[in-house]
Amino acid sequence: MALSIDFDVDTDLASASWERIRDIFALDPTTTHLNTGTIGAIPHEVAETYEQVTREWAGGLANIYPPSLYPDYRARIAPDFGVDQDELVICHNATEGISRIIAGLDLGPDDAVLTTSHECFSVLSNFNLAHNRFGVRVDLVTLPSGPDVTAEQVVATFEAALTPRTKVMAFAATTLFTGTRMPIRALCDLAQRHGVITIADGALLPGVLDVNLRELGLDFLAGSGSKFQCGPLGTGLLYVRNKVFPEHNPLPLPRFWPVVSTWYPLVGDMPKRTTTSVETCNMGDYLQSAGSASIARAAALAKACEVWNRIGRRRIEERALELGWYAKRRVVQLFGESALYSPLHDARLHAPLVAFKPFRAPEDAWNINKIMRFVDRLESEHRIWIRWVEFDVPGSPHMHYAARVCTHLFNHHDEIDRALEVMARLADEMS
Ligand SMILES: Cc1ncc(COP(=O)(O)O)c(C=O)c1O
Repeated sequence: MALSIDFDVDTDLASASWERIRDIFALDPTTTHLNTGTIGAIPHEVAETYEQVTREWAGGLANIYPPSLYPDYRARIAPDFGVDQDELVICHNATEGISRIIAGLDLGPDDAVLTTSHECFSVLSNFNLAHNRFGVRVDLVTLPSGPDVTAEQVVATFEAALTPRTKVMAFAATTLFTGTRMPIRALCDLAQRHGVITIADGALLPGVLDVNLRELGLDFLAGSGSKFQCGPLGTGLLYVRNKVFPEHNPLPLPRFWPVVSTWYPLVGDMPKRTTTSVETCNMGDYLQSAGSASIARAAALAKACEVWNRIGRRRIEERALELGWYAKRRVVQLFGESALYSPLHDARLHAPLVAFKPFRAPEDAWNINKIMRFVDRLESEHRIWIRWVEFDVPGSPHMHYAARVCTHLFNHHDEIDRALEVMARLADEMS
C-alpha cells in the first residue's frame, strides 16, 4: 500500500498544518467521520506496519512466545503515559482490560463496588458477573448531566454514595454517553481518603488526553487503542499500578490475580509485590504473557503512538478539545443550550464528545426509534457518521436518547459546521 502523503512524515509532523496531517489518515473522502469514540481512523503508516509485520511472521519460522510478551513495544509506549513497562499491558480492547481487572481483584460478599449507571456495558456487565458469582454488592449512582454540571457535583455524587463496605470505585475517564471528562484526580483523592481501590474505564483516554497515569493516582485503567489513539482494531492498553509512589497514591497495592496468564507459576506464588517505588514483581509480564500473540497488532499500536509523539500529544489534545468546544458552541447556536447533555460551563469536564437532543419536542428525547432513524438517515443520505446514546438522567422516569458527535485531530471546522447544519435541517424535517 502506498503512502498517500507527499511530505516527509519523519521531519514534518511536529509543525505540519492540520490540513496536511489529515492526509496521513486512511479516511474515506466521501464520509464525515464524527465518531472516533467508537472507532478512530488509522494512519496509513499504521496499516502498513500491520501488514508488513504480519508478512514477516507469515512463514512461522520463529519462536513466537518471547516476542509475545511485547517487551520492546510496551517499553516504547509506557513513557507516553508516564509509566513503566511493568505497569503496562497491550491487550485487545478496553473491554478485555476491564474484565481482567474486575476478575483479578479479591471481591467477596462483604464488599461493595461504587460505580455509575453511565458506564459502558463492559464495566456494568462485569460487575454484575462479580455480583452473581461472588455476591459483591454493586452500588450505582446516576451522574448529573447537562450544561451546568460541575466537577464538584460529580465528586459529591460519589462521596454521598460511599459506604463502609465500598472497596472499589469505578468510573470512566470520559463517559461515552454525555462526554463528561471525569475529575479523575479529585475522585482518586476521595477514594484514597477512604482506602478505596480505583478503576478507570479509559476507553476514551489514550490518544486524546495527554496525561500521566501515575500522577492521576489510579490503581487501574483500561483503554482502547483503536479509538482516539487510532491504532489497529483489537488493541487496548491496560495500566496496573505496580509500585507505590506516595505522592500519587500512598495506599498499598491491592491484592491482584493476573487472570489469563501463562507466566503465573505452576507451583507456588508470584514474588511479593513492592511497598516502595521499586518494582519487585513485574505484573505487566504476568498479564501480558497469555499464549501466542499477534506481533503485528502490538507493532502497529506502537507505530500509532510514535506518530502521535511526532505530532505532539499535547498539541493533539488541544486540537481535539478545541474542535469539541467548537462543536459544542455550534450545537448551542443551532439547537439551544437546553439541548445539551454534555457539560458546558465547567471547562474541567470538557471532552471532544458532544451529546445533545436534536428534536424540539421534549418527549422526543425518550423516543429510541426516532433517534435511530435520525442517525441512520445521516449516514445513508448524507454520509455523516455519528452515533446515538442511551442513558438515565437524575429525576427523569425515562431513558434519554441523544445524538453524539465526537471530534478528533483529523476533523476540521468546516465539516463540523456542515454536519451540524445538516443535522439541524434533518431534525426540523423529522420534528
Ligand atoms: C467509555 C467506554 N468504555 C468501554 C468501551 C468499550 O471499548 P472497547 O471496544 O475498546 O472494548 C467503549 C466503547 O465505545 C466506551 O466508549
